Amino acid sequence: MSEKGLAAQLQDLLNTEWFGSRIIYLDAVDSTNDEIKRQAGSDSNCPEGLLAIAERQTAGRGRRGRTWQSPAGSGIWMSFLLKPDIRPEQASAITLVAAMGVAAALREKLALDALIKWPNDIVIGGRKLVGILTELSIKTDADGGNPIDYVVVGIGINVRGDSFSDEIKNTATSIETECGHTVDRSRIIAAFGCHFERLYGIFKEDGDMRRLRGEYEAVLANLGAEVAITDADGIRRRIALGINDAGELAVQDADGSTEYIRAGEVSVRGIYGYV
Ligand code: BTN
Repeated sequence: MSEKGLAAQLQDLLNTEWFGSRIIYLDAVDSTNDEIKRQAGSDSNCPEGLLAIAERQTAGRGRRGRTWQSPAGSGIWMSFLLKPDIRPEQASAITLVAAMGVAAALREKLALDALIKWPNDIVIGGRKLVGILTELSIKTDADGGNPIDYVVVGIGINVRGDSFSDEIKNTATSIETECGHTVDRSRIIAAFGCHFERLYGIFKEDGDMRRLRGEYEAVLANLGAEVAITDADGIRRRIALGINDAGELAVQDADGSTEYIRAGEVSVRGIYGYV
């Protein structure tokens, strides 16, 4: 679909209060996360919900400094702006909330069995369909007030799988591969917007996952599974029990003692594959 087609269709479908309050459509951009940062950095009145959508990214970024392949028309490459009144340590849960929104949209609109690999990848049949990169801007002069300037949530959803590189073709999947037919990206984005507004509203009541844990764990691919946790000390195997209010992954060792893994600090993978 052309850029104009996506823009026009999304305008018709979007039924949100603030998500997509302003939308920037780009044919090409370095990274939609960087575009939102530029907008927010140059105008402190940028509205919450400002959304950037690109047909292709020339320098798409993933977590842990990886690149994110974003070929033209092959996916949904989008980022949006949030201005939450929370402490920086609470912000990592936003990425879990965004994953819930994507999973809910894919389930509702396409009946896909989308699961979340903690903290925020969406997987189907053990292959990665969606990646989320959440970035914070911290004020240098908070003066006792809210130290968070803004949060950018960037979401990459593989829609067509015909251009995966050799590097990811065995671990990635796409919506059209899973559905077996073409889909309108605007429908997915519009559904995500509605789900995210609902979920983020619940998250903001407590600033944590306490009211969302049940819904999150209902689609958590790792629940009850053995995971390999890699950090500076090496690799250890644990059983994933679920999440706590902070969105940390609760894992148990063979002696029954539980520890909580914070997103971003470690890599968590399945024992026999990616999930
Ligand atoms: C990951 O799984 O490593 C996160 C990938 C996030 C990719 C999206 S695509 C839209 C937004 N712009 C970026 O540069 N990255 C995110």
